[in-house]
Amino acid sequence: MQEYISVEIKESMGFVYINRPEVLNALNRSVIDELWQKIKTLCDSGVRALIIAGMGKHFAAGADIDEMLPQTPFQVLSHSFNDCYSFIENLSIPTFAAINGYALGGGLELALACDFRVCHSNAKLGLPEIKLGIIPGAGGTQRLPRLIGLSRAKEMIFSGEFIDSAQALSWGLCDRVTDSCPVEEACSFAKKIIQHPKLALISAKKAIQMGVDSSLQEGLEYEAVAFAMLFSTHDQKEGMKAFMEKRRPEFKGC
Ligand code: COA
Repeated sequence: MQEYISVEIKESMGFVYINRPEVLNALNRSVIDELWQKIKTLCDSGVRALIIAGMGKHFAAGADIDEMLPQTPFQVLSHSFNDCYSFIENLSIPTFAAINGYALGGGLELALACDFRVCHSNAKLGLPEIKLGIIPGAGGTQRLPRLIGLSRAKEMIFSGEFIDSAQALSWGLCDRVTDSCPVEEACSFAKKIIQHPKLALISAKKAIQMGVDSSLQEGLEYEAVAFAMLFSTHDQKEGMKAFMEKRRPEFKGC
């Protein structure tokens, strides 16, 4: 069986590479199934952060048009990328898309399911589905406006045009731009984050995610409980004690 996804673990971080460079890492059902399975396995092994990238010159040029062309509506629904992308969005660890070259359509939607997008300066981002007579179908019409606002999302989706990394940075679609390797950049970004106590990071991510999908009052109530629960952890006592004793804390992740 052909393997489309390569995986590596380094310094407690999981690296996942989409490996189909001959078609600019276009995503078909087999790629998505393998991606989902390998990310699950990585997370079960206890990695503290996840970095997703593309092999070769590009992140991913979208869903595989050759596979989609003959599909019926029923096949499209049963082959949706949504379950995989929602699984990634709901992971408790910080997630990063490290983007080289094109991140288009389902490729950009994969990046949108991550917490952060780190782009090479050559990156081109877009949702060109409109040019094929369809719309983004794996979260693009939902996650993009939440991230960059209605008008900018409508501009990208209605025009199908690509934006470069500088534009993406100024719109808040990407979080870092680098002239060197975006995986390395994402890696140093991740390292800064995962030095912090694991349970506080999990709680922060969950509270932010809950808040985005609920009313302010519901979000505040969730936050208050999550905040209070952290006072049952070793790392809260240690963090505050170390501050008072003017020393470096020794966190244990519990
Ligand atoms: N699905 C299937 N195959 C794709 C693909 C996709 N989304 N994107 C690129 N490919 C294939 C091309 O068909 C080509 O295959 P070939 O060598 O067998 O002809 C190969 O990848 C290289 O692509 P090519 O178009 O020759 O490269 P380019 O540099 O001229 O253009 C893009 C790059 C990204 C602008 C162009 O490939 C493109 O528009 N791709 C489709 C993007 C898209 O609409 N994505 C959303 C899908 S819903």
